Amino acid sequence: MNVTMIGTGYVGLVSGVCFAELGWNVTCVDKLTSKIEALQRGEVPIYEPGLAALIESNRNTERLHFTTDMQRAVRSANVVFIAVGTPPDATGKADLQYVYAAAEGIAHALEDFTVVVTKSTVPVGTNHEVARILKRTNPNARFAVVSNPEFLREGTAIEDFMNPDRIVVGVEDEEAGTIIEKLYRPLTNRGFPLLRTDINTAEMIKYAANSFLANKIAFINEVADLCEKVGANVELVAKGMGMDERIGTRFLRPGPGFGGSCFPKDAAALAQLADSVGMDLRIVKTVIDYNLDRRARMAERVIHACGGSVAGKTIAILGLTFKANTDDMRESPSLSIIPQLLKAGAAIRAYDPEGMDNARPLLDSSVTYHTSAAEALTGTDAATIVTEWAEFKQMNWAAKKDTMRAPILVDLRNMFVPADMAALGMDYYSIGRAPALAKAHKLAKTA
Ligand code: UGA
Repeated sequence: MNVTMIGTGYVGLVSGVCFAELGWNVTCVDKLTSKIEALQRGEVPIYEPGLAALIESNRNTERLHFTTDMQRAVRSANVVFIAVGTPPDATGKADLQYVYAAAEGIAHALEDFTVVVTKSTVPVGTNHEVARILKRTNPNARFAVVSNPEFLREGTAIEDFMNPDRIVVGVEDEEAGTIIEKLYRPLTNRGFPLLRTDINTAEMIKYAANSFLANKIAFINEVADLCEKVGANVELVAKGMGMDERIGTRFLRPGPGFGGSCFPKDAAALAQLADSVGMDLRIVKTVIDYNLDRRARMAERVIHACGGSVAGKTIAILGLTFKANTDDMRESPSLSIIPQLLKAGAAIRAYDPEGMDNARPLLDSSVTYHTSAAEALTGTDAATIVTEWAEFKQMNWAAKKDTMRAPILVDLRNMFVPADMAALGMDYYSIGRAPALAKAHKLAKTA
């Protein structure tokens, strides 16, 4: 089967490469010549673990191609995926201009029966509009539209594609349904479930799933704050809650608030969709507001740990990206924490293993960037972990704290056991747990 993927962003590139890995002949299309030329040279525009190796091996077996020639790529395809961006507009509504432009482009090239699949995250009704555009642009075209939302997490996108919890296919045409089931057979043969629904339902599943996960995170974050006030340990609370199979342990990690290109955008788009039909989606709107407010309040924790003021102090920021194992800075909590600390008079020394190039244009020019966490920590009055990169865990904190002016660590990702850090001589502040102070630890030992 020939598969054409329109758009080589996160979703398009990962999905295209993975379909090639499943054995299909895949052509990835992008209108940006420089991007396609780079991919043809074997350069990968994003940081995603395992992606570069998979691109190389599938190019070597000639199952994976890159082109700017959309017409040609569509003409030879049995299945065409639309995987272009749907950025939010000022009201939170998904901007569908790229989806519709792709549909028009596809329509001109359609010859034999072709399945046109939307992978971009799009509000309910979009696939039916895509079908109308295809028909209007090319009245003789033989096609069927399918909604096939993605559930890939940045940083583990390949693993998520190859081991999906479920594959959702919204399809209302028998022939198209058979083709899509064949496309995913390498996965369904291995036992991964495929849920077939109508098109509107598939579109809704994606938004509802992302908004629910966002809700879960916001909930545990709020509980974490309450744990701090009443003297409970949120890590154990989350564990105890998660052991109930109805709740589940995943996506109950407290932190600085969710970020990234999906949860904030998709929750806003769902609320906007509800608004457009005269319904007020109160829970989702509360989650959005709570999360924005939470991200804005993270700097206060650092200021508090520094004794109420960071004026004239130097703070190390470890991790800039919205989560680990990505270079993506979109809606990252670091983008609210750093400006606030600067405003409060601090100097910032930053380090991120993959995100510094993307961070630089988004942050004040006074921020300095360092080649390692150890270097960023040198001479600082406090350090803050914003992103949970594994290397921060592996670092020799006992030795590194001696290079700091004050051994204060504010860990917004709960990477450590508080008592362990106090035993190393750190004053350790985390989320939803009591602070563990080096002095208190020494006193406890001598008592
Ligand atoms: C998310 C979904 O998890 C994917 O299923 C979906 O396909 C994707 O959006 C999308 O719509 O394209 P992603 O944004 O890449 O994936 O990353 P997540 O791992 O979901 O993390 C999102 C945010 O939530 C991050 O800021 C992360 O730090 C935060 N988070 C996640 C928590 O604070 N706690 C958790 O327990 C989990």
